[in-house]
Amino acid sequence: MTDIKPLRDFIRDMTRLADEGAGEQRFLTEGAALLRRLIATDDWLPEDCAVPGPRYRQYLLHCDPLERFSVVSFVWGPGQRTPVHNHTVWGLVGMLRGEEISTEMKPGAPMTPGQVDRLRAGEVVAVSADTYDIHVVENALPDRASISIHVYGGNIGAIARSVFDPETGAQKRFVSGYDNAAVPNLWDRSREMAAA
Ligand SMILES: [Fe+2]
Repeated sequence: MTDIKPLRDFIRDMTRLADEGAGEQRFLTEGAALLRRLIATDDWLPEDCAVPGPRYRQYLLHCDPLERFSVVSFVWGPGQRTPVHNHTVWGLVGMLRGEEISTEMKPGAPMTPGQVDRLRAGEVVAVSADTYDIHVVENALPDRASISIHVYGGNIGAIARSVFDPETGAQKRFVSGYDNAAVPNLWDRSREMAAA
């Protein structure tokens, strides 16, 4: 049985940051520190948000009611990868289980690879509309699933953004959506109340 408290604490702290009017800079520093703390333990992700599928899965864990940020569990089966895509908002990627590779793609025909980040469990990297916004992400492990926890500066599944053809650089409208219809229950604190 997982205990969702670390996720609840993370969302509370991110909400406080948002309430303080934090901009991208603070989210990418202080938010990154909060995410690093969240992924330091691996006993809180609900099991139904950790299930791989025929393509990579994105499970919404939480969306801020004012859509100032969202938290998503990305589950990569062996060999799975995203299309080349952008975000248009700031983002943080924290590796929970396994490893993934993010390759920045630079505009052109064909597009050319830029910075390559190999993320290992416990590590966090940022994406930003200003600096590093277009990339392709793939599971680095050939034989098992990898899971990363992403945080974005908006309701990422509902933002109109773009996918790109790496050969021609052609851009196409993309709204990613989510794979789950229900978000995890953060608010059943009965166990801690019963134990008090
Ligand atoms: Fe991405």
